[in-house]
Formats: sequence, structure tokens, C-alpha cells
Amino acid sequence: MVFGFGKIGIGKVIAFLVLIIVLIQIWHIGMLTKHERMTLPNNQKNEGQHGKVRLLISKIENAHVLDSSGSYNIITDIFCHEDSSPTLQNDVTLVSQTSSNNLDDVIALSERWDGAISISVFTHFKDLQFAMDKLLHLHLCFPKIQNRVHFHLVYPLDNDISLDELKHNFASSNCENSMKTFHHQNYEIEGIEYPHNLLRNTAVKFCKTSYVFLIDIDMLPNKYLRREFNTFVQSFKNDSVVFVVPSFESKDDAVIPTDRTQLLRNWRLKKIRPFYFDVCQKCQRPTDYDQWQFLPDSSHLNIAYFVQREDAYEPFYIAKKDFPLYDERFKQYGYNRISQVCEMNIAGYNFGVLNNAFLIHKGFKYRDGFHKNKEIENNRNRDLFQQFKRELRTKYPNSKRSC
Ligand SMILES: *[C@@H]1O[C@H](CO)[C@@H](O)[C@H](O)[C@H]1NC(C)=O
Repeated sequence: MVFGFGKIGIGKVIAFLVLIIVLIQIWHIGMLTKHERMTLPNNQKNEGQHGKVRLLISKIENAHVLDSSGSYNIITDIFCHEDSSPTLQNDVTLVSQTSSNNLDDVIALSERWDGAISISVFTHFKDLQFAMDKLLHLHLCFPKIQNRVHFHLVYPLDNDISLDELKHNFASSNCENSMKTFHHQNYEIEGIEYPHNLLRNTAVKFCKTSYVFLIDIDMLPNKYLRREFNTFVQSFKNDSVVFVVPSFESKDDAVIPTDRTQLLRNWRLKKIRPFYFDVCQKCQRPTDYDQWQFLPDSSHLNIAYFVQREDAYEPFYIAKKDFPLYDERFKQYGYNRISQVCEMNIAGYNFGVLNNAFLIHKGFKYRDGFHKNKEIENNRNRDLFQQFKRELRTKYPNSKRSC
């Protein structure tokens, strides 16, 4: 035998080859999961990082888009990547806004929400370096963030941003360590007003899906909300309806529930309570937590009941993207969502509460846990809200509703 297979037998050779192929496959799968955990080889990572830094710097250098007041620069989709998740007709983008110090919350959001996410980030000249380092770190070290999250930057125009310094000071991202975080509140950035509503509008306008779901950055929705909503809304045709997602807050150390059964259990154990339970009960009361709690079990997402807007109501909801946007004159604390919900009401929208959907704020909120200027800001925005309501009467002359 020329090839010497005589004694071994062709069957054994084939078995041997199959074994080799199986081993290669196992090794390959091992490599893939490793890649999922995102430890890119260092040279590849650095190359990616340098490219991203160049892109970021050139975007800041060429930033020309201002907000309507002419005082903020806006850069949308700073990493400008292709979204790898398919965009369905009835899909929902998760939308939020934050200052750079709460950016770590995006990690949990990208774990929970398996579709597109649009996040506006507020920064200013003292903070820009940190914000950039942090964004780059999240983008390079977390594949789900890289694939799903579109970040937009908003910063005051009158700040001297030194790009030369920025170019040279980028920290090298090390995915094994998490980055340090500053612990100041969004409202406490020295001398700079936090423009919630500009940030919200920027993130909403960017969305490519038919629906958006705007939440606070430190909240989490139930696990399969996006999937269940896609199915539900296919057969729901009434554009006047927005879908209220009941919101709760969870004790600091408690595990955040993923479904309604877990939520109800934690609620009985007092680890969960309605959102703003201590801060502002009337802000959520119309959602009617008693009714929601005792809904019959259902395997399908649906509207359980409709509610009327009352004074100070500020629910979180999923809506068709073309709803009335947020008034950007509201900055700092107070009335920034209340005013928008008031306009929705006057514009004729109806509030349907979803049975199996919920949103959970991480941590209980307390009335005295706010920053020192909260009351001053709240009073100023209350005056602005009175003016806003007068303007709505002109904007919607035929509306039979008021707020
Ligand atoms: C849409 O829903 C609202 C609230 O239930 C209802 O009042 C309205 O009649 C509905 N519109 C249509 C066209 O079905």
C-alpha cells in the first residue's frame, strides 16, 4: 500500500478526521465566547482606540450644530456605528440622558434592553476629558454597548475646550478594570444649568424606530418588554394612545425583578414601592397602582385600563416617535416632564396602562435626598409652567382638555 492505510483502515482515518474537526470547532467556540467577554488582543484594541479617538476629536473640531437657543453644541451619534440589531417596523428605541458621572448605568441598560438605545450625555469643558475617556471605555469594552447604544454629546457653547490637550490626554482603556466615577448629582454641576429637555429631545430625534420609550438613566425595564411590545403593537391601531409603563423604586440592596411575578413578590416584601412614593405621590398616582397590582395574570402584554391625566402626572410611557417634544426652556429641577405630559393631554393623547410592563428605579428616593437649590429651581419652573400652559391654549385652540 502506497499510503500505508492498509492496516489502519479507512473507517478509522475518517473517525480520526471527524475528531480533529470537532476539536477545532470546540476551540473556535471557546474563542468566540472569549471574544464576547471582550478581551481583544492589545494591539487590535489600541488600533481601534486610536481610530475612535481621532474620530471623536474631529467630530468635536467640526461640531457646528447648535440647539434652538444657540447656547449648546450638539454632536449626534459620536461613534457613528452601524446598528447590528435589526430595526423592525414596530420596534422601540430606549431613550435616556445623563451627565458623565452616571454613564456606568448604561452597562445594565444594555444588558436588559436587546434593541437600539439612544443616550444623550451632558458635558462641559472641565468634564469633557473624563466624559470622552468614559465613553470610549464603555464603547470598547462592552460589546452590547458597542452594538446597541448611540451616544450624543451636548455641551455649552461658551466653554473653551482645548482640543490639543484632549488629543494627548486620552487614557488608554483597560477593559479589566472599571473606570473611576465622580459622584455628583446631575443638578450640581458648578454654575451650569442641566438641560434635561434638550438632552431628551436630542436623543428622541435621533431614533430610527417607530416607537420610543424615554426613561431615567438609573431605571431598568422588565426583561422582555421590547419583544412583547413588538408583538402586541402589530395588532394595535390607534395613534392617539400612549402606553404607560408603571414605575417603581427598589431598595438599594434588592435584586431588580425581571418579570411581574417577581415584582409583586418584592412589593409584598416591601423591597419595592411605587416610584416617587416619598418624593411626590401625586406625580404617579393616576397610574392606579392598586388596580394594577390585582390584575389577573396574563401571558400577553396588553392595555389593562385607561387613565386620565391629573395635576402633576408624569408617567413613563412608550409612544409613537412623533409625539410633542419636551420644552427645552425647562432646565434643572421641576416640571420638565410634567409640562410635556400636560401637552400630550391637551393635544388629545390617551393614556393606556400596560399590564405586564414595568420600570424600576434603582434605590428608594427620599424627599430630603435632593440638592440644595431644588426648591428655588422648582419655584422658577412653576412660573415657567404657568406661562407654558397659557401658550398651549394658543397652540391648541380647539382642545376641550386642560391641565
Ligand atoms: C382610540 O382610543 C381612545 C381611548 O380608548 C378612544 O377614545 C378613541 O375612540 C380611539 N380611537 C379610534 C379611532 O379607535
